[in-house]
Amino acid sequence: MDSKERVVVIAGATSPTGKALARRFLTDKVKLALFSRDMAKLSDLRDELALSPAQGIIAAFDFCEREAAQAAAALVRQEFQRCDVLINLIGGWMGGRLIDEFEPNDYATMLNQHFWTTLYLVHAFLPLLRQSPHGRILIVSSPSAALPPAKRAPYAIAKAAQETLLLALAQETKGSSITANILRVNTIDTQGMRQRDSSPKTATWTTPEEISDTIFFLCSDAAAMINDARIPLYGSP
Ligand SMILES: NC(=O)c1ccc[n+]([C@@H]2O[C@H](COP(=O)([O-])OP(=O)(O)OC[C@H]3O[C@@H](n4cnc5c(N)ncnc54)[C@H](OP(=O)(O)O)[C@@H]3O)[C@@H](O)[C@H]2O)c1
Repeated sequence: MDSKERVVVIAGATSPTGKALARRFLTDKVKLALFSRDMAKLSDLRDELALSPAQGIIAAFDFCEREAAQAAAALVRQEFQRCDVLINLIGGWMGGRLIDEFEPNDYATMLNQHFWTTLYLVHAFLPLLRQSPHGRILIVSSPSAALPPAKRAPYAIAKAAQETLLLALAQETKGSSITANILRVNTIDTQGMRQRDSSPKTATWTTPEEISDTIFFLCSDAAAMINDARIPLYGSP
């Protein structure tokens, strides 16, 4: 690791995983840029983390808009002059209907939240990430991307598009200081159900802390050679 503090950008920072991740990174010497749409939730998160201005910034953006991603990157450049890690945790889920029962707009909504936010963020932050000696780009996806279950088509299609973007990026950055990787989880276990109520259903669930520990490792120098991976975090491939 170089001697300068790394700058970690978390989009979707107010999600349970975003919070766990911010807590995990604060155990290290980093600067955080925490983004989501809701300033009130971000302010609560800043208080919860006791995040000082020296440790990081919060700002509200809707990353379904290309200009918002550009503005976020400009803010990070202005505040820190660098970006080492970009993590997109923006989510949303839709299910319970057949392909022809979903409206075209449902597909657009899912693609906006998963694919377009990732594309806009990657576009905006790549120039900074390319200057980092250890650039990292990470998303959290789902096994549905490869094995679409019935009645979840918009979500599965959007996750597949988001994954394809990261895999193509991993090829284009191969041999550079940037890595791009995908974590896959079935269900994020925000209530500790796998421990409290173990069953075949909850056995594959993953806690925000398990996700954030994995991301933290993937951002370390020890993980510099891990690129283009789809890592299953649900107990089996
Ligand atoms: N939950 C699961 O079981 C599960 C399973 C597999 C994969 N994943 C993936 O894991 C990641 C985290 O999921 P989650 O369920 O923890 O997410 P979540 O609780 O729904 O939180 C999503 C986060 O993104 C922010 N956000 C949403 N739309 C945004 C936009 N247009 N611009 C900026 N910020 C936006 C939300 O804050 P605001 O609403 O305040 O903007 C929030 O911070 C997602 O990528 C999801 O697809 C989740």
